[in-house]
Amino acid sequence: MSSSQAEPTATGRMAVYPGSFDPLTNGHVDIIERGARLFDRIVVAVLVNIEKRPLFSVDERVAILRAAFRGNPKVEVDTFGGLLVDYARRKGAHAIVRGLRAVSDFEYEFQMALMNRRLAPQLETVFMMPGEQYTYISSRLIKEVFMLGGSVGGMVPPLVEDELRKKQASLTGGPETRQA
Ligand code: PNS
Repeated sequence: MSSSQAEPTATGRMAVYPGSFDPLTNGHVDIIERGARLFDRIVVAVLVNIEKRPLFSVDERVAILRAAFRGNPKVEVDTFGGLLVDYARRKGAHAIVRGLRAVSDFEYEFQMALMNRRLAPQLETVFMMPGEQYTYISSRLIKEVFMLGGSVGGMVPPLVEDELRKKQASLTGGPETRQA
């Protein structure tokens, strides 16, 4: 490569997409794919929150995310605890990505974005809208519908459906947990 050619940057413009991802939905997938087109790299950061009682452990959620984005070298999966802005600073992020589904998301997201800006003025929050078909999907509703026997097909990646089935079996002592 001649010295006049631009060297590919080691990191480029990187964004952190933080969240609980309990579990990953097709709305999250849509935002991650949009983020990966906008930035050179997107780090999907799973919050380690000892107060919440998640359905999937942090390790399970990380494994699901890694499997879902195995083919996309622009997507990295990580975990974080403590303040998001401290994590973003440590990672050298240029932006925080958050998805906005509906007006109801706005107030909470607006508060968080402004608080994060107060804590780290150089860090920009970028809001992205998922495809309209995903605007009503949330991890909370997915868990509720699935656990009550409803279909979540098309709303989560197939591997998440499999993991939900396994989780349900392990919680109810179903066939997948019984000894052969
Ligand atoms: O997907 P979620 O659960 O809505 O994500 C919320 C998340 C992880 C973005 C938020 O809880 C967070 O950033 N937590 C880290 C602690 C922190 O920085 N709190 C101050 C936010 S203004």
